[in-house]
Amino acid sequence: MDKNTRIGLTTTKAPFIEHAQSEGRIFIEQPYHLYNEDNQRAWRELYARLKPKWERFANKQFQQGIHSLCLNPDRIPTLEEVNTFLQQLTGFKAKAVSGYVPTFLFFDSLKQRAFPTTITIRSSQSLNYLPEPDIFHDIAGHVPMHTDKMFADVLVKFGALAEMAANRHTHLSNNEEKKAKIKSNIQALARFFWFTIEFGLMREKKSLRVYGSGLLSSADEIEHAILAQEVQRHRFQLEWVVNQSFEIDRFQPLLFIVDSFDHLYSEVERLEQWLLTGKLDTVAPGEPAISEEDFQVFLRRGK
Ligand SMILES: [Fe+2]
Repeated sequence: MDKNTRIGLTTTKAPFIEHAQSEGRIFIEQPYHLYNEDNQRAWRELYARLKPKWERFANKQFQQGIHSLCLNPDRIPTLEEVNTFLQQLTGFKAKAVSGYVPTFLFFDSLKQRAFPTTITIRSSQSLNYLPEPDIFHDIAGHVPMHTDKMFADVLVKFGALAEMAANRHTHLSNNEEKKAKIKSNIQALARFFWFTIEFGLMREKKSLRVYGSGLLSSADEIEHAILAQEVQRHRFQLEWVVNQSFEIDRFQPLLFIVDSFDHLYSEVERLEQWLLTGKLDTVAPGEPAISEEDFQVFLRRGK
């Protein structure tokens, strides 16, 4: 057994990933033979923990999506088998990446119905700790939602919005002004994404359900999001969401509720209007911080 196979594809500890990153490769293949027994155990245990929680707390499109994708509870799926089911439903496909994808490229991939997908998995020794996205978060948390047509259309819209944000400010000659406005636009898009795609709640008849993937892939937070007294839950308000900071390393204290994916789509359309009329050029400062690299990619892609 070579060193790669023993070490496996464990989050933050995979030589295969380090190698790809050192060569600047973002889009990669999924070397399935490198998953070791600990990796497979992590998938199995996470799936077993989440399944009863999904039945209680997940929205019905997610549950339908899990069913449609035929995910195997006992082993990590190949992206190829996931895509066989996914592509025929909404045209989306999971595409393996080596880690962080700059925001513009991430949204631009969505426009082409490709979902950048992490292939590493957290250690089975620390299933609740997730230092960065992993294949369980991306495949079990995100991809079942991509089987829903309206939800998939919302994701595609994000790609169009990123392109508009990149193009809107190219005429500005004042570089400081240009930078401030582009960063503000990215921050607004990132906040919208966070409070919907990652941590969104949906009203379903008289109860609340989870559709955000950050919640759907966390055995503890999914329940906390619906039941905990200390969580503030409010109907989705665009003016609030685009100005609201968030922190990624704790249970979310504030969540927003949509009525349906039609409602979510109509809010993305309002976001587009706000972007085009300059209302996202000066959102409240705070998290997430926009890196220089993120800003530079938007700048380069502007026409
Ligand atoms: Fe995510």
